[in-house]
Amino acid sequence: MCGIVGYIGEKPAIDFLIDGLRKLEYRGYDSAGVAVLDHRGTQLVKSVGKLKNLQEKVEGNVNGGMVGIGHTRWATHGRPSDANAHPHSDCTGNIVVVHNGIIENFLELKEGLLQRGHRFESETDTEVIAHLLEELYQGDIEQAVYVLLNKLQGSFALAILARQEPDKIIAVRQDSPLIVGLGDGENYLASDIPALLQHTRRIFILNDGEVAILEKESVRVTDRDARPVKKEVFAVKWDPVAAEKGGYEHFMLKEIYEQPKAFRDTLTGRISPDSTRVTLDEVHLTVDQIRAIRKVAIVACGTAYHAGLVAKNLMEKWVRLPVEVDVASEFRYRDPLVDPETLVVVISQSGETADTLAALREGKRRGARVVAVTNVVGSSVAREADDVIYTWAGPEIAVASTKAYTTQLIALSLLAAYLAQVRGTLEKPVLSRLLAELKTLPAKAEAVLAQEDRIRSLAGRLVKHEDVFFIGRGLDFAVALEGQLKLKEISYIHAEALAAGELKHGTLALITKGVPVIALATQESVFEKTVSNIREVKARDAFV
Ligand code: F6R
Repeated sequence: MCGIVGYIGEKPAIDFLIDGLRKLEYRGYDSAGVAVLDHRGTQLVKSVGKLKNLQEKVEGNVNGGMVGIGHTRWATHGRPSDANAHPHSDCTGNIVVVHNGIIENFLELKEGLLQRGHRFESETDTEVIAHLLEELYQGDIEQAVYVLLNKLQGSFALAILARQEPDKIIAVRQDSPLIVGLGDGENYLASDIPALLQHTRRIFILNDGEVAILEKESVRVTDRDARPVKKEVFAVKWDPVAAEKGGYEHFMLKEIYEQPKAFRDTLTGRISPDSTRVTLDEVHLTVDQIRAIRKVAIVACGTAYHAGLVAKNLMEKWVRLPVEVDVASEFRYRDPLVDPETLVVVISQSGETADTLAALREGKRRGARVVAVTNVVGSSVAREADDVIYTWAGPEIAVASTKAYTTQLIALSLLAAYLAQVRGTLEKPVLSRLLAELKTLPAKAEAVLAQEDRIRSLAGRLVKHEDVFFIGRGLDFAVALEGQLKLKEISYIHAEALAAGELKHGTLALITKGVPVIALATQESVFEKTVSNIREVKARDAFV
């Protein structure tokens, strides 16, 4: 995910900016940049790739300006490139901005700005902010920012510099974190605490809708209507190394806890406020093309394949189209029945998995249109597919997929709902209920995560076993398959998932006293059936 840093004080800003960005590297990024301001103007340096590329460009090229902002970017709008890296500036170069989050109404804002003669240098949503401020600026950057806030929709954390006012940084938070660090004769800004720890431990956290004006000797905070807000400063006691994982023991845990936010980001702007319609801006299939689809072929590997199995369930039910799901490493060797009337859906977190990419190419070679569900903007899969639906999960650093899988389920649900909407295969109230349900997922994920203690104590009971079985029917079976994969990968405990009704056809022989069976029974239509399978294993004294 993107990172923001800012410095104003008595030392060359660049030193803190580079150090702070390095401390945020653990969040993952594809490009980075800094802007440093002194009485001569703003210097902007940006580079795609690792921070060392930026550092090489910075050396000898950045003045000793004592005000600056920096950014590590994880691409959302526009591929990773020097031009798309932040900071972004207006036409005059007077105003520079770094941004975390997504500006939902950027297309419409950009259109207006283009008509009014602004020139854009990047494909980002962020650049509209700099150009809007250029129009709004009348000698007071603070006032311009208050007006700006009424024009932006979406989530954003911003740090803004104006050449005409080199004694301040303006910071804004709306649904994306920002932290202010207080020093003596210097103040700091960062999107996450680790960037600050070596410089100050006195911090406060901005709340949604708050604006901070950082100067060398003071920091003022207001609400979005310029009314002063009093902040409580606290001392952080974190160990700097643990802090890079946001205080979590490891990245996988951190990423599990990032799910509610990842869900919100993946849903943002895709369901109408009244939950009646799905909009997938990135899917350019026409109504006629969607109506002409005769079959869907889903191809992916590992966890993404399991997400595909869930999608098959949903698509067949909602869109009434036959859906095949293939493991990508098998697909191209089995002479698949794919033709121009087939919609191929490839799923890949990284967008770089060789087998999935090969399957995508095979689908295209056979004349099919390919929709990709991926998490990495500008990845090979994203570039080669005809249409892309991004999962806005942010970087997944842990090897085991967690938030990428669950956001894939959301993206695929949206795709299934979209196809149903266009083909008219779901009654409007039913579609609307499904969409409204999708919107409740972030809160539901929070409720599950709040049960950590119960989950931990259950894990304690399972850990001594060598084999664990998962059972479920329908959608639950598809999810059970992902459960067993994750358990094997992470705990090295052998695990196996079975369609619950298959147990009696042989595997029941392995269910003996105390063997753990994790049963998934979340669907009303097969609930009783699954309960009877639970009775079968309980009769053999399994621990369910
Ligand atoms: C398991 C896991 C893998 C990946 C698989 C595909 O936890 O992460 O099974 O899902 O290697 O990777 P992507 O989605 O990047 O194509």
